[in-house]
Amino acid sequence: MSSADVEAHPPGLLTTDAEDALRALRAGRLAVLPTETVYGLGADATDPHAVARVYAVKGRPADHPLIVHVASAQALPSWAVEVPDYASRLAEACWPGPLTLVLPRHADVPDAVTGGQDTVAVRVPDHPLTLQVLRAFDGGVAAPSANRFGRVSPTTAGHVLDELGDVLVPGRDVVLDGGPCTVGVESTILDCTGPAPRVLRPGAVDEPTVRTVGGVAVVAGPSRVRAPGSLASHYAPQARVRLVDAALLRRHPGVPPTGPPDTGVLAPADVATPLGMVRLSAPGTAAAYARVLYAALREADALDLREVLAVPPQGAGLAAAVRDRLSRAAAAG
Ligand code: TXA
Ligand code: MG
Repeated sequence: MSSADVEAHPPGLLTTDAEDALRALRAGRLAVLPTETVYGLGADATDPHAVARVYAVKGRPADHPLIVHVASAQALPSWAVEVPDYASRLAEACWPGPLTLVLPRHADVPDAVTGGQDTVAVRVPDHPLTLQVLRAFDGGVAAPSANRFGRVSPTTAGHVLDELGDVLVPGRDVVLDGGPCTVGVESTILDCTGPAPRVLRPGAVDEPTVRTVGGVAVVAGPSRVRAPGSLASHYAPQARVRLVDAALLRRHPGVPPTGPPDTGVLAPADVATPLGMVRLSAPGTAAAYARVLYAALREADALDLREVLAVPPQGAGLAAAVRDRLSRAAAAG
C-alpha cells in the first residue's frame, strides 16, 4: 500500500492494534479483520444491528448469509449442531486455516447471520492478529469479504480503504492492518450437512486433503444447501476480464503502441507479454497466482484498462480456485 492510498482516506480507521478491533466489536461497531485468505468486514454475530450494518456497508442482499469466525474448533457446538465425525476431523486438522464448514445451525444463531437458512457457516481464520481478537472476544464474528457486493475481494488494508473508506466511520469502526493476505483467495466452503461433504466454493483446502483428513470422499453434484454468494458473476473489476489460453497469447501479434496501453495481461511467468500490452503480474506458481490475483485485477482498474487477458493456471488445488474466481470475473463482463 502506498502512503498516497492512506492519505486519500480519512484518518482514524486504520490500526495495527488488535485491542482497537476488539473494542469496536464489543461496542457493536464494525472491525475489518485480516485473514490468510482475504480481509473480512466483521461484526459481533450475536448483535443484529451490527450485522445489519455489515449488509448495508457492503450493499449485500439480506438473503446472502455470512461466515461466523471463531477462535477454535471448541467453539463449534455454540454455533452448529449435528456435526458429523468427518467435519470434526476436518475442523481439528485444518483450523486455523482456509476452510469453512456449513452445518445445521444452533437454535441461538441469529437469522441475520444465516440469511434465514437452517445452516450456518463457520471457520477459524489463520492470522495472528485476528486470532488474538477472536480469543479475547470469546464469541463469533460474522464477516464477509470486505468489498462492495460483487466486486474484487481485498487482500491488503489499502484495498479495504479503497472499497469501504467512505462508508466506515473513523474513530468508531476500524480496519486492522495485518499486511497482505498470504493465501489471497477465499476459503474452501464445504457443505457438511450430509453423510459426505460437498464443495460449495473451491479454495486452498483441496479435495484430496478433505478426503484424507475427513476420511470420506467428497461427493459431486448440486448441494441441497444454497450458497447465494456463488454467483456466476462475481469478483469483477471495472475492466472486462477475458480468459485466453497460453498458446493463443503466445501467437498474439500484439498491438503497436499508439498511446497508453488499454489491455492488461495476467498470466503465468512462462507466458510473455504481447507488444503494447501491460503486464499486471507474472506468477510462477498457483500459490503465487492466488496471492496476486485480486491485486492484479485492482491494478487493471487503477491503470484504467479496458480489458484484462487472463491465462488461468493449470492443475488442481489452488489453481482450480483461481480458475473459479477468474471465470466469475469474466462472466461479469
Ligand atoms: O475466506 C473467506 O471465506 C472470507 C474470509 C473473510 O473469511 N470470507 C468470505 O465471505 O469469503 P463471503 O461472505 O464473501 O463469502 C461467503 C460465502 C458466500 O457465498 C455465502 O453465500 C456462503 O459463504 N455462505 C455463508 N453462510 C452459508 C450457509 N449457511 N450456507 C451456505 N453458504 C453460506
Ligand atoms: Mg465475498
